[in-house]
Amino acid sequence: TTRYTGLIERYRDRLPVGADTRVISLGEGNTPLIRLENIPRLLGRSIELYAKYEGLNPTGSFKDRGMTMAVTRAVEEGSRAIICASTGNTSAAAAAYAARAGITAFVLIPDGKIAMGKLAQAMMYGSAVIQIKGNFDDGMRLVKEVAGEAPVTIVNSINPYRLQGQKTAAFEIVDELGRAPDYHCLPVGNAGNITAHWIGYSEYACGGRDCVTESCTFCNGDCRFVSGGPVSASRPKMVGYQAGGAAPFVRGHMVDHPETVATAIRIGHPQSWDQAWQVSRESGGWFDECSDEEILAAQKMLTEHEGIFCEPASATSLAGALRDIRNGKIPEGSTVVLTLTGNGLKDPDTAIAQCTQKPLTIEAELDSVKRAILDVL
Ligand code: F0G
Repeated sequence: TTRYTGLIERYRDRLPVGADTRVISLGEGNTPLIRLENIPRLLGRSIELYAKYEGLNPTGSFKDRGMTMAVTRAVEEGSRAIICASTGNTSAAAAAYAARAGITAFVLIPDGKIAMGKLAQAMMYGSAVIQIKGNFDDGMRLVKEVAGEAPVTIVNSINPYRLQGQKTAAFEIVDELGRAPDYHCLPVGNAGNITAHWIGYSEYACGGRDCVTESCTFCNGDCRFVSGGPVSASRPKMVGYQAGGAAPFVRGHMVDHPETVATAIRIGHPQSWDQAWQVSRESGGWFDECSDEEILAAQKMLTEHEGIFCEPASATSLAGALRDIRNGKIPEGSTVVLTLTGNGLKDPDTAIAQCTQKPLTIEAELDSVKRAILDVL
């Protein structure tokens, strides 16, 4: 047996690293693809529904996939400091991988608008936390401006190595299912992740010199990845769901004052705008929106009925999929993968606030405990 040492080692031949590259890893990737058992039954639909539980990455979100790659390359190129704007997860990942590499991380976060667990992470990992009186989009603008004037490497998803790392989630799914799913549903904020997944699926569908994928838009008959044969001659329809108050892809234009309980995707000016539209077009997928109520209900449904605790933004993929399965847009017989982007423990405040069943407080005696049990059963 070989020890699992992270996604760069596992997919080294498909990632931009050299033989001598010092890899900065915390063992990210290799997350469980959990087949949902109860929700399809509750829906009364015969559908193969899987959750890719990215909340089990080292810092609790999919951002670790991109960060291992971005920090590995930043260190290789001699950078001593990285910077990002974040709604909380990118900053947690940046802070952790910078600590691992022994370099400095600067993180810009919207004042008062990130989940408590994520703030705790950025502080504990020892990054320089800069709260701005503005939202994520303001932070993103500032990071791009300051990177031209200070010796810092941007590790937001406009850094191409981020998407290279994140594409490995698609590899893992195809490796495990033996083929690509029919639909891949995921929450969309800055739109890096939907773009990264499409790169991954496309690379696997492309056979390089022997490419058999009809009108392959990835290699155009000239693929860089000539080593492998066609692993999967199919790609999923990519379905991106947004929170209603922060849904530029549904509106068809940028949104200036994004608002949603799912703070991770409280973004109005996505950086990968053109790329995500291209993904949607090429894959035959679509964008849609979910209300905050639908998002929280889906989050509760996953915990109560499947035992999977994801953060609100992540539950957007289930919230949207529920609707599209019910209305038949995602037909019976389909295989569907939902990305659960972050761990539920990141945002305890929102979780506790939405639980109507509050903890019971009783005397520390046998009779009271017995009564409490019999009241429930
Ligand atoms: N889900 C979670 C939990 C996220 O943290 C993010 C993005 C997304 C979904 C959306 O992914 O931006 O690639 O479309 N979070 C970024 C951050 C913006 O700063 O942590 P995307």
